[in-house]
Amino acid sequence: MRQPYLTLEDVNVSGKTVLVRVDINSPVDPETGKIQSDTRIRLHAKTLKELSDLGAKVVVLAHQGRRGDPDFVPLRSHAETLARILGRPVKYVDEVVGEKVSEAVRSLKPGEILLLENVRFHPEEAVSKSPSEHAQGELVRKLAALADLFVLDGFSVAHRSHASVVGFSEVLPTIAGRVMEAELSVMEKITKEVKKPFICLLGGSKVEKGSEFVEFLLSKGVDKLLTGGLAGNLLLYASGVNLGEASLAILRKRKLLEHTQWMGEVLKRNPGRVEVPSDVAVKAEDGSRVELKVSELPSPHPIYDIGSETINRYVEIVRGAETIFVMGPLGVYEEEAFAKGTLEVFKAVAESKAFSVASGGHTVSALRMFGLAEKFDYVSIAGGAFLEYVMGKKLPGVECLKAAAERFKGGL
Ligand code: 3PG
Repeated sequence: MRQPYLTLEDVNVSGKTVLVRVDINSPVDPETGKIQSDTRIRLHAKTLKELSDLGAKVVVLAHQGRRGDPDFVPLRSHAETLARILGRPVKYVDEVVGEKVSEAVRSLKPGEILLLENVRFHPEEAVSKSPSEHAQGELVRKLAALADLFVLDGFSVAHRSHASVVGFSEVLPTIAGRVMEAELSVMEKITKEVKKPFICLLGGSKVEKGSEFVEFLLSKGVDKLLTGGLAGNLLLYASGVNLGEASLAILRKRKLLEHTQWMGEVLKRNPGRVEVPSDVAVKAEDGSRVELKVSELPSPHPIYDIGSETINRYVEIVRGAETIFVMGPLGVYEEEAFAKGTLEVFKAVAESKAFSVASGGHTVSALRMFGLAEKFDYVSIAGGAFLEYVMGKKLPGVECLKAAAERFKGGL
């Protein structure tokens, strides 16, 4: 059956001004502002290259970080990275809408690519509203007036009902980009059949998205949830372990402590199914790795990884699984001394006989860093969107693509 949305196969983009929403939200070094992983940029570069080769005037919209977070930075380095990957110039304007943008878009020649400023710098962007409400805002009105077509390429941001994701499909012909197409076709397959034992690795820092997902997985019969990263720390805390002020401060800063009670209840309701670390690695004052049993906590130093005993236990469990979903690194893998837990458990997944799926920007960056990505059966750059799709939720961006296909089926 044909997919319920339009793609590049359905349009002629030559000479047209095409607005493309990608998701190149990347890990950024908070001190230098340098991009630490270009995985998402590389993927979306393929869609942008195709559009450019077809003679479109390509205007790229993307976000980076969340307001208030250290990675909420301008997109200048993203433009430079994209240009390096594409091997062709990428123009950049440090505004989302305004005179500079209008001029830059109007002066684009076929094949040229322009990246606009971090779209979340615009006050209308990161606000959840309906597509028609967003379509009335300045951001969508002004940019749509400059364009002929909208391409939604960021599956990983399709769960956000934000202006740049859902607004344009109301007013412009809208199609799915290549990354969106690829993600959607695989997502359909992986949600159909899950062989048991079914294991899920839950780590990373975006725990707030994970809580509902944990409940969902447990209700759908996941055999074991192996936890690490901030998810693991929070579960330890919820089970009554005093982590120490340094680790608590990290959870508090990310507003994760509000999930404590719920996490505690999940642990009680599912004895034996949710695995928490039995030892951890903390970052000592001189930056070195010091392993401690959980019974030796609290520590004045922050927990940065799972410990060796936990690694061995998780590796054993992974070896017996038939299906494994990997969501989030198990520690601060970006720092060599704390990459061990993530590396060894991910390696065991890659080498196992199980059908393995990895999701989320940081997970994929870690896999690429360790050279393991090719050994997974499927790697999705989406984190939150992946979780919501697997849970059977409708993603606002995907719904817009479907609605646009209906609206514009008479001709683009
Ligand atoms: C992601 O990294 O999951 C997407 O870029 C969405 O980012 P967000 O969770 O800040 O909306």
